[in-house]
Amino acid sequence: MKQQIGKTNALYPSLTTILGTMVKGRPNFITIAHVGIMNHGDPQYLSFGVSKTHFSNQGILENKVFSVNIPSRDLVTETDYFGIMTGKTTDKSSVLETSVMDGYEAAPLLKRCPVNMICKLARTIDFETHDIFIGEIVATYADEAVLADTKIDIAKVDPLLFDMSSLKYWSLGQPVAGAWNAGKALKKKQNE
Ligand SMILES: Cc1cc2nc3c(=O)[nH]c(=O)nc-3n(C[C@H](O)[C@H](O)[C@H](O)COP(=O)(O)O)c2cc1C
Repeated sequence: MKQQIGKTNALYPSLTTILGTMVKGRPNFITIAHVGIMNHGDPQYLSFGVSKTHFSNQGILENKVFSVNIPSRDLVTETDYFGIMTGKTTDKSSVLETSVMDGYEAAPLLKRCPVNMICKLARTIDFETHDIFIGEIVATYADEAVLADTKIDIAKVDPLLFDMSSLKYWSLGQPVAGAWNAGKALKKKQNE
């Protein structure tokens, strides 16, 4: 029998990302797991729910650009640190080595993250407690080590998945079946 468990948000796990921006002249990094894919097409839009209490918001709102860095399992300590320390009182800029791309100096990239995206702020949705930043992807960079041909191999990225119930980082398991493919067996059966 099912039990109602209030209005629990059951949309976990989510991908753990680190957003980078410039605030008050220095790079600041914030761990964000409330992420979404808004428009899978051209252009591509992503969403990030960021509490208005955070230091990062002023940088994103001012610069209208930010980086989205995807950490691997080996960066769990630094990733968590970016999520427990605030730039209001702590300089987080030298925890990991950074780089910038021409024209996007306000979107510092974390070199140790195998995948980085640069997003232009396309829209901000002003919710009660959170700014929902909608970013348009303008460029994506990936370490050659995590590419299979020119595509990202998610097993090689070995990303950190965040779960709110257990308050833990999880990792990927094994692939289960082909997407847009597994259902074909049932389709075939129905057509028999
Ligand atoms: C795993 C993890 C995920 C987090 N996800 C979010 C999130 O999606 N939205 C948010 O507003 N804060 C989130 N946080 C909290 C911020 O990362 C944290 O408060 C951070 O210190 C704010 O940094 P800043 O003040 O320098 O911007 C998360 C923290 C952790 C550890």
